[in-house]
Amino acid sequence: MASYVVAITGASGSVYGLRLVEQLLGAGHEVALIATAMGREVMAYETGFTLPEGSGAATAVLGMLELPPTMPLRSIAPDAMFDEIVSGSARTDAMVVMPASMGFCASVAAGLAADLPERAADVMLKERRLLVMVPRETPLSLVHLRNLTTLAEAGAAIVPAMPAFYHRPKTLDDAVNFVVGKVLDVLGIEHRLFERWGS
Ligand SMILES: Cc1cc2nc3c(=O)[nH]c(=O)nc-3n(C[C@H](O)[C@H](O)[C@H](O)COP(=O)(O)O)c2cc1C
Repeated sequence: MASYVVAITGASGSVYGLRLVEQLLGAGHEVALIATAMGREVMAYETGFTLPEGSGAATAVLGMLELPPTMPLRSIAPDAMFDEIVSGSARTDAMVVMPASMGFCASVAAGLAADLPERAADVMLKERRLLVMVPRETPLSLVHLRNLTTLAEAGAAIVPAMPAFYHRPKTLDDAVNFVVGKVLDVLGIEHRLFERWGS
């Protein structure tokens, strides 16, 4: 069992992050979920699901995903700076920021580490562990591109939320699954979220 951090920020597309949490738990892994304040707000606006603050959050997410309440999901507040994941000594295998706002990418590229998700991402880079950033913005300014380049240079994997059409998606769910599947590919986790080209 591996241990993953999933951060949902205030970019459009919290549905991607929630689907990723479902897949990681379904594959038998531990997940620590952090949503930024804007991540919670945009999630509520786009999906109708309000992530509760405090200890009921993990139970609410598992209920919404129709997963057993015993699954190893931990939800952490973004200001919980004493959480174990602020430290490189914690056993975190990888972190995925999905979706990643341009603001979040800028903060991590600048090394601010001003709240828990920023610090957890900073830790992944300094420990040379896998940080997967799933930016969602269009068009991209030169500032955005430079920040993404800095993150890639520091070792992050940049996996933009860019659904493809060669697998002939029929529903929005198919498009979401494609992007989540690409992240699972980067993490090296088996999945059946889309049919592979040539298969
Ligand atoms: C409905 C809505 C959609 C948004 N979509 C995006 C987006 O796709 N990409 C982005 O970079 N920012 C987007 N934003 C702006 C971010 O939420 C804003 O920059 C915020 O400060 C990000 O904070 P965070 O990184 O702490 O979550 C959106 C805001 C709203 C209200």
